This record gives sequence, C-alpha cells and structure tokens, in this order.
Amino acid sequence: MKTKLDAQSRETRLREKLPQISTPLPGPNAQKILALDRRYVSPSYARDYPCVAKRAEGMIVEDVDGNIFLDFSAGIATVSTGHCHPKVVGAIQRQAGMLIHMSGTDFYYPLLAQVAEKMAAITPGDFPKRVYFGNSGTEAIEAAIKIARYHTRRHRVIAFLGGFHGRTFGSLSLTSSKSVQRERFGPLLPGVTHAPYAYPYRCPCRRDQNQCAKDCCCADLIDQTLFRTIAPPQDVAAIVVEPVLGEGGYVVPPARFLRRLREIADRHGIVLIFDEVQSGMGRTGRMWAAEHSGVVPDILAAAKGIASGMPLGVTVARADLMDWGPGAHASTFGGNPIACAAALETIRLVEEKYMANAAIMGKYLLEKLADWPRRHSAVGDVRGLGLMIGIELVKDRSTREPDGDGRNRVIRRAFEGGLLVLGCGDSTIRLMPPLVVEKHHADFALDVLDRAIAEVEGER
Ligand SMILES: Cc1ncc(COP(=O)(O)O)c(C=O)c1O
Repeated sequence: MKTKLDAQSRETRLREKLPQISTPLPGPNAQKILALDRRYVSPSYARDYPCVAKRAEGMIVEDVDGNIFLDFSAGIATVSTGHCHPKVVGAIQRQAGMLIHMSGTDFYYPLLAQVAEKMAAITPGDFPKRVYFGNSGTEAIEAAIKIARYHTRRHRVIAFLGGFHGRTFGSLSLTSSKSVQRERFGPLLPGVTHAPYAYPYRCPCRRDQNQCAKDCCCADLIDQTLFRTIAPPQDVAAIVVEPVLGEGGYVVPPARFLRRLREIADRHGIVLIFDEVQSGMGRTGRMWAAEHSGVVPDILAAAKGIASGMPLGVTVARADLMDWGPGAHASTFGGNPIACAAALETIRLVEEKYMANAAIMGKYLLEKLADWPRRHSAVGDVRGLGLMIGIELVKDRSTREPDGDGRNRVIRRAFEGGLLVLGCGDSTIRLMPPLVVEKHHADFALDVLDRAIAEVEGER
C-alpha cells in the first residue's frame, strides 16, 4: 500500500512538475551505477553530486530511484527547449526513420544546407555568411581559429583570463578558467596571449563596480600594452571572447568592453570571434548575447542549446573569411542529419516563444535576487542576462574573498532539496534553467537556494 501511494504521489508531482526526494541520496539503484562508473568511466569528469538520471521531461529529471528533481542546470545550458520536448523528440524520431547519417563532408543532404541558411539568417550581421558544422563547442572554436588563421595568414590569438572555449588543443590554448584544465597538457598552441576580462565585481583595473560598468578599460590594455609589448597587432589573427563569461563565473561585461574590442579588431584587420556556445540560442533573452551590446562579430561559434541536447557545433563566419578550399577542414559526424533536424525544431521553438520567456523569467529571477547581497552575508554579487544568472559567494563582503567551499556546500544542499544547480568561476552558483522555466519553478529554486545559503551561513 505504501509503495502504491508513493508511486501515486510521485506521478502527481511529476505531472505538477514538483521535486520529490523519497530515498537517501544517492539511492540504492544510483549507488550501483556509481560503483560501475567509478570502475570504468574516465576519472577526469568533475561531478559535484551523485545525480544518476533515468528520464526527464521539461524542467524535471527523475533519477534511477524515482527521486524527482527540478533542473536549473539544463545539461549545462544545453536542453534549451526543456528535456525531451515533444516537438524535438518528434523531429528526431522522424529523421531517425529516414536518414541517420551520410556525412556532409562527402555528400549532400537537405538539412545541412537548410540549417546553414537558418543560422546565417538568425546570427548578427547583415552580410553574406557561410556555416561550418562540427559536433561540439570545442569543435566550433577550433574551426573559428582555423578560419581566422587561414584567412589572415597570421598566427597570434588574443583570448581572455577566465574564458572557457573547450578542451581540444586549439581551444584549450584559449581556455583559462581553471589551471587543472591545462595542467600537464602543454605545450599548447603558440601565439596565444590572454588579456583581463571585464569583471565589474572584481575589476582587473581596480575600479569600483559602478565605474567599471560605466567606463571599462580592460580592452584598452590590449592596444595600449599587449600590442606594444608581446603581441604585434599585424601578427594577430583573432580576438576570441565570450560576450558573457560562462564557466569563468557568469560575468556580464560592460557593453563598452565588447565595443572597444570591435574597434581594435577593425583598426588592425583582426577577426573578432564571439564564443556564444553557452550564451547563445535565446538563453540571454535575445537569440545571441552579442545583441545586447549591438556588437557584430565576424565569426560566431554556437553549440550547446542549438539542438536541445543533440550534439551539434556550428561556426558562422562572414562569407569572405571562409576562403579555404575543399579538404581544408571537415568532420565525419559534423552536422549529422538527426542533430540538424533537432536544431531546426529547436530554433523554431526558441524564436516562437522560449526566447521571450527567457527574457521574462530572467527579469523575474533577477528582481527576486536583487536583495540577496543585503540579506545574505555570504552573497557578494548577483548578476545576469536573461537565464544566465550568477550568485557569487564570498567569505567576507568587505574583502570579497571567494568562498568556493561554501558554494559547493550550497550546491550539495540544493541537490538534497531536489534542485539541480552547478557552479562556475571560483565561487559562483549559476542558474541556467531550460528556457521553458515558469514562475513556480523559479520560486521553488529560489526557496531551496535561500535556505541552503542561510544554512551555510549558520555554519560559519
Ligand atoms: C563558452 C563555451 N565555449 C566552448 C565550450 C566547449 O563546448 P563543448 O564542451 O561542447 O566542447 C563551452 C562548454 O562549456 C563553453 O561554455
């Protein structure tokens, strides 16, 4: 009888999309998978807590023991239309029954050209574009670097401290969010120089937060210092930047930062590359984070949310930059028909309603969070754009010393309370729910986090 009631209440909560934790975590079935995983899976993955997913729908993830979680991590900002959106599932199923693979490197199929046309239409810039297809964010960045080097015949690249662009060797050479990602892998790509990222809460130029936001000078360091000392601008092929810093801490730079990068790139014939792998596809309330600043990049890299969880990476470049010829670059699986079918449906849904929802819900969450730095001694800063929101925890608000350990404990407690969130940067909790999130989900998530932060503060 108890089991039947439990099952009923689980179904009700699933229908109502409310979390329910009914076993100790991890539960017995989860423990078996964890043991298997520990034995066979690469130990390089960094899991914050033991969530073993079985199935998911919309905002809800059910684990292998029947526990139900509210998902504010979206498969790391990837399931943009929510888990298993019926329209996306339908598109995948139809495509799987028709053509699973052909390889766009050697053959043609309609979806590759159709997604390319759509991407050219929805990315910033009123100029002819061409589109390269890979399977991931890192491949989208590799292609962007290669296009820039090939076209300019220059080898240097400027990237930013705290940036994350992937883990294959080219993109890893740009990645600088955590040293563990680079340790013992060098030497990496030569000619990469890192500049400070405009981070108003921790201004690299030591300005106060408001002044930094108004009058950011980080980009000035590139032409006033780097170009004069270690990176001659005539050798620089590309500047690669995330228009909102993702893994590095969900930092929203002042618009002036991106505008100055555009000016510097234009002055020296440098290709400006925006990595929108995490910030793109409607997540910030507009299709691309670039649109908030009005800056148009020469190349835009997208992945993650583009196909609601199917592997796809896309590099959209000004057509004149993609002057490489047949054989210069390609990938067997890149632009796979099923991923392309999922992408077309995802783009349609995001354009139709979810991008607008991201703007509304992002505003709602940020308004509710606005007084947290006053109410919580552990919260140093709250910031965000649309559904890319960071809550930065500090040991002490006057010194702003990051509290990574406190952040990790909050995330663990949230998990135990039925909420899936992840960290980023040294001590930031990031909220990146699927774009289908509704108010009652937001209220639940904030309630769990509010209590978890208060508990961690109580332990100080
Ligand atoms: C901004 C950004 N660029 C690139 C990547 C790499 O993407 P992937 O893990 O698909 O290779 C990520 C992944 O988190 C990212 O956030």
